[in-house]
Amino acid sequence: MTTTIILLGGDGIGPEVAGAAVQALAAVGRRFGRAFAFEERPIGGAALRAGRPPLPRETLDACRHADAVLLGAVGDPLFDAEPAARRPEAGLLELRRELGLFANLRPIRIWPGGEAASPLRPDRVAGLDLLIVRELTGGLYFGEPRGESADRQQAFNTMRYSCAEVERIAEVAFRQAAARRCQVVSVDKANVLETSQLWRATVERVGARHPAVRLEHQYVDSCALALVLEPRRFDVILTENLFGDILSDQAGGLTGSLGVLPSASLGDGPGLFEPVHGSAPALAGRDAANPMGAVLSAALLLRHALGAEAEAQAVEAAVAATFARRCCTPDLAGPLGVAPARCSQVTAAIVAEITSPAK
Ligand code: NAD
Ligand code: IPM
Ligand code: MN
Repeated sequence: MTTTIILLGGDGIGPEVAGAAVQALAAVGRRFGRAFAFEERPIGGAALRAGRPPLPRETLDACRHADAVLLGAVGDPLFDAEPAARRPEAGLLELRRELGLFANLRPIRIWPGGEAASPLRPDRVAGLDLLIVRELTGGLYFGEPRGESADRQQAFNTMRYSCAEVERIAEVAFRQAAARRCQVVSVDKANVLETSQLWRATVERVGARHPAVRLEHQYVDSCALALVLEPRRFDVILTENLFGDILSDQAGGLTGSLGVLPSASLGDGPGLFEPVHGSAPALAGRDAANPMGAVLSAALLLRHALGAEAEAQAVEAAVAATFARRCCTPDLAGPLGVAPARCSQVTAAIVAEITSPAK
């Protein structure tokens, strides 16, 4: 049976890294006897440049009917001065909302030897393995009303959460934690925000249904500090949309490069799999972007969209082995003190590892 994957390259380095993920999946297909069909569609700046909306209708329809969606990144400085609704990012936000992708999983791992690339002392980060569970379709990103006053002297957004929205994302976090180290830290700003008070009370109720998982609450500012001082104390971090956006980039920094972080966005229908990083315009077209975040997103696609755990682990092992050989793009080669490889070389090394794993 063929798995249909919609490929949304997007902008900047998006198409390059998404192409790397496609190559990794094709190699998985050859080794494990799976057939993948990739269908490319425009999104973001790529769509806007062609005179289309940031999420063209047929792109959304194709995603709805696919087995999974693989995205590179969106974002193009050309549209920086445009109003929110006419920016490339609006296409991604609309896709998340339309597909009901409320659960965003952002795993952060330091691979063996990777501690040398971290800006923190190696003994602080060796073996780091945490998961950020970010609510993705609510909060400030989508709350109404939003806009600006008629005289354009004020602008406003609304942070709004319902119990039902908090409950379903909390349930995801507790289930993930139960399969890991059984610890959830729920991150909020309950000392200031009503939404956070509702969040905390709701998470408590969900937590009571999962007695095997230890639940703690932490304010977001305090969590940002702890991520730098003692990142290994975290197993699962559960948080709302904006806090999760910020904390996941910070946690990505622990690895030395945002380029290695994958993500899975899940709802009731097809999932969306994309690296955490953006379109990195300065790196675009230079064959210098780190493809590991995109390739690891393909591993999450195998795991969460297809239930193909052996295949997912084969991809993760291939990335780890490539990393262990110090075959890295400049973002990691710099801090590791090794000669940099190109994006295409790292991709080829990962594909070779998937095809015939060392040892
Ligand atoms: P960015 O993630 O593109 O870049 C942040 C830093 O990380 C830069 O120094 C960049 O060079 C580096 N970096 C990112 N990905 C890398 C990779 N694969 N390999 C090596 N280095 C990498 O964030 P930004 O500069 O704030 O945003 C650029 C554009 O991307 C903006 O338009 C923004 O809105 C958009 N964006 C999109 C997504 C997405 O599509 N999911 C995520 C974040 C930002
Ligand atoms: C991310 C990005 C997006 C977000 C932007 C591009 C809309 O930063 O996926 O982390 O803020 O969610
Ligand atoms: Mn982000």
